[in-house]
Amino acid sequence: MTDLGALGEHSRDRTAVPSFASFESGHADVSRETTDPFASLDVDHESPLAAEMLATERLRRELEAEEFPRPASTRIFVVSNQKGGVGKTTTSVNVAAALAQRGANVLVVDADPQGNASTALGVEHHSGTPSIYDVLLDDTPMARVAKRSPEIPTLWCIPATIDLAGADIELVSVVRREFRLHDALKELLEGPGKDLDYVFIDCPPSLGLLTLNAMVVATEVLIPIQCEYYALEGLTQLMKTVDMVRKHLNPTLEVSTIVLTMYDARTNLARDVANEVRRHFPQQTLSTTVPRSVRVSEAPSFGRTVMTHDPHSSGAVAYLAIARDIASRDPGGSQ
Ligand SMILES: Nc1ncnc2c1ncn2[C@@H]1O[C@H](COP(=O)(O)OP(=O)(O)OP(=O)(O)O)[C@@H](O)[C@H]1O
Ligand SMILES: [Mg+2]
Repeated sequence: MTDLGALGEHSRDRTAVPSFASFESGHADVSRETTDPFASLDVDHESPLAAEMLATERLRRELEAEEFPRPASTRIFVVSNQKGGVGKTTTSVNVAAALAQRGANVLVVDADPQGNASTALGVEHHSGTPSIYDVLLDDTPMARVAKRSPEIPTLWCIPATIDLAGADIELVSVVRREFRLHDALKELLEGPGKDLDYVFIDCPPSLGLLTLNAMVVATEVLIPIQCEYYALEGLTQLMKTVDMVRKHLNPTLEVSTIVLTMYDARTNLARDVANEVRRHFPQQTLSTTVPRSVRVSEAPSFGRTVMTHDPHSSGAVAYLAIARDIASRDPGGSQ
């Protein structure tokens, strides 16, 4: 039986958005805490660190009380930047987890042979596991390879294995090679995946056929940009690729969202890069930046997202705010 068949249990009822707390039953029920989490700590409330922690906790509570609108139809994001290590996977899995924790039905498609998104979501992906490779090269239906997150019941993952490493070359001789993911995802969304609210496709750090397949089926491009030197180099090429796809293969594709990652507020460089990105992309760049955080980087080693690993951490709260911003900017909705 396919795991995704059970998606019907969580049909897209736009009036009933389950609370953040209801998906955390397996863990400490942090969201129902009513006491000050710092009351028992011997912290100097005047110190900058304590002030930052309190501000983070206050924001988390505000976000928890907010209702996240659900999209009118499935929003499909391609998470891409051909520059490596900029936070594509981290952003894909954490935004997906945050939205799913707020009741949305979310699918992460791991389209990177590194399989990092599969690792972070705690989904098996050793060589030979049914994966996105079988979908792209062997016409296996997506519903048959989708796996439910062990931690969040409305979050799903199509894993990637190392078998995908040759796919960029193997796809070259396949019929409709740019449309393999498009055809498979459309089949899913017209069947067992019809109640999916969001799909995030985590791409490899290249603009090859895997990324092209993702751009052909997506409606929105989400670009994570690391606040470091060289951040903007390569963006021109990425924008050209998006334009080319829009012109020839997918007229609906838009760069809707830019997320600034690994932001270190103490450095002038991070601030300069962020300002430069905002100057070029004022509409697309989200106001929330993701801070550098040990909790974010260690979460995958536990097979978890930071949203479940440490929901109080600054990284988790930033990704929750980003999820809220994304949910409230639905281009297909009324807002
Ligand atoms: N906010 C953050 N704070 C600290 N470390 C982070 C943060 N975001 C990402 N990282 C770490 O930076 C590294 C690169 O992140 P990630 O794997 O998400 O990038 P990527 O763009 O998907 O990389 P690739 O191009 O290889 O697919 C990882 O080790 C990740 O844990
Ligand atoms: Mg990655």
